[in-house]
Amino acid sequence: MEWQKGQVAMESRKDEHIRLFQKKDTANLENDFDSVRFVHQSLPELNLTDIDPSARLPFADWPQPFFINGMTGGSEKTKIYEQLSRAAAATGIAIASGSQKAAIKNPELRDTFQILRKVNPSGFIFANIGAELGKEEAVRAIDMLEADGLQIHLNAPQEIVMPEGDRDFSRWLNHIEQIVSAVKLPVVVKEVGFGMSRNVIHRLLQAGVGYIDVSGKGGTNFISIENMRRSGHEFGYLEGWGQSAVISLLEAQKYFGSATFFASGGVRNPLDALKALSLGAGAVGVSASFLRVVLDTGADGLIELIENWKKQLAGLMLMMGACNLEQLRHQDLVLSGFPYQWAKLRGISAEMLANRSLRPAAKLSLIR
Ligand SMILES: Cc1cc2nc3c(=O)[nH]c(=O)nc-3n(C[C@H](O)[C@H](O)[C@H](O)COP(=O)(O)O)c2cc1C
Repeated sequence: MEWQKGQVAMESRKDEHIRLFQKKDTANLENDFDSVRFVHQSLPELNLTDIDPSARLPFADWPQPFFINGMTGGSEKTKIYEQLSRAAAATGIAIASGSQKAAIKNPELRDTFQILRKVNPSGFIFANIGAELGKEEAVRAIDMLEADGLQIHLNAPQEIVMPEGDRDFSRWLNHIEQIVSAVKLPVVVKEVGFGMSRNVIHRLLQAGVGYIDVSGKGGTNFISIENMRRSGHEFGYLEGWGQSAVISLLEAQKYFGSATFFASGGVRNPLDALKALSLGAGAVGVSASFLRVVLDTGADGLIELIENWKKQLAGLMLMMGACNLEQLRHQDLVLSGFPYQWAKLRGISAEMLANRSLRPAAKLSLIR
């Protein structure tokens, strides 16, 4: 009985997340992608037919370097998942499920997640659980979706601000280590919009993790969403918490040879995605910018948007004279504002980043 009550609470919380997500306009939020600039190239010397935007990942080649990142969809979930997944299938991009914890605890909810696979039988799908769960649950989540990979999310700030949230995070790394050694598919450890530091990245690599999505701040903000659920809104002061994807990728530079990094958090358009790819991300995850379109205009609206992103991405790569992602990673990037200050104080060479095209053979590490 207690368990069932918890279940109902979990489901209605997901509804509230969607409602509060819609209430919060993030369009004018400060976004660190605006503090990263490419250097304009007047002579691209390329033809559009030369452009290959594909993401060559160790476990798959994705035709596009961006994907629909994990989102839970409330009890309207079946509809939202169906639309997101239909868009993924129609456009050929990868998609991640939202947290499957509810369906792992209550098998009656399995079909609300399985719709992801049903409408997208041959697409790339990530299963998704939180780090509070162990390897048995990880395997169940993967089997539920016949998934091609697994995401494990880290959301400590969200849990702390959530009135009924978890308070025990003492076994997360242990769970991650066990899951990574038990699961043969790619396992991505991801944040949910608070970013990562080099210290966390180092510890994840030591635990055997090979794939990390730094998911930074600047877009969806779960401190703010959970704070809106509190009658006193007492955590308002914490809403700027965390690192952006830009800063997280700068923090990750030293580890590019040891793991594959994904970037997400605050990606608003194809130019933001290209900046993340140029900073070293293997592919870019998008949640808020796609969810808003699905909620407004359904799967067809999202399909149209994704097709536009594909065209624009190729056009921007052409404009910059980069025919593939590898070449994009040797483009000069000029930092300003907070990311510049951060890099300076953390011993990351912004000067090297701004002049790296002069050293095409140089590796990506920017740590002095
Ligand atoms: C409504 C909503 C629900 C989400 N639920 C999950 C989830 O269940 N599991 C997860 O790993 N991330 C979840 N996320 C986080 C996203 O995957 C992503 O890390 C974060 O939203 C930052 O990206 P964005 O700025 O593009 O939204 C959710 C995001 C949204 C908007």
